[in-house]
Amino acid sequence: MKGHIFILLEDFVSEVASDALLYDALDACSFDTSQGFVRTENYPDEHLVELVGMVVDKMGISLSQAHFGFGQWLYPKLTSLLPSHFTQHPHPAHVLQKLDFLHQIELKKLYPDAQPPAFQYIPTSEYSAELIYTSPRKLFDLVKGVLAGMSTYYQVEITVEMQAHWRGDENCARYLLTYSKQCQLQPE
Ligand code: HEM
Repeated sequence: MKGHIFILLEDFVSEVASDALLYDALDACSFDTSQGFVRTENYPDEHLVELVGMVVDKMGISLSQAHFGFGQWLYPKLTSLLPSHFTQHPHPAHVLQKLDFLHQIELKKLYPDAQPPAFQYIPTSEYSAELIYTSPRKLFDLVKGVLAGMSTYYQVEITVEMQAHWRGDENCARYLLTYSKQCQLQPE
């Protein structure tokens, strides 16, 4: 995973817990944390998993709470990575519709060696849609958290029903989304 995400995780832990807890967690990791992460570098996913494990231990929260909380906090920070026309819309559906393109094409321009997740977005009415997430990282609760962050950011309530391991694929989850506000997407 990109150093960018490690750095955001550090910011998150400092903000919601403390710098002291962050440094304790970094010290407790088995890999070298003395250098600081570089935004554009790729680091092993196992390092992220270990660091999150340490943080969760020290904060006394569950892994799924940590993933959700980080995802919720993350969305406004992610938006600043891309030009505003990609993310400044009156409704979250506009971004969700482009999510695969944003990760697979736009993000690759920024970070050519990124290994982004895959998304499929299927509108089912003006108030509802299905979002299908596929990644070997299986960050299902993180996606749920990012959706909660988008709800606050765009001031549109989103009710989310998650179906993990959708259609027997352990890397895949389907989210049934219901919006409090109508969205009329332009045909692609
Ligand atoms: C619109 C602005 C967004 C930007 C700029 C962005 C950027 C990124 C970046 C830089 C990564 C790391 C990729 C890597 O290290 O290879 C990432 C991963 C990820 N993104 Fe986004 N993202 C955005 C929106 C979203 C949204 C709305 C969701 C979910 C609803 C989401 C879900 C994820 C997940 C779950 C990962 C972890 C990687 C994985 O599961 O394989 N992102 N994104």
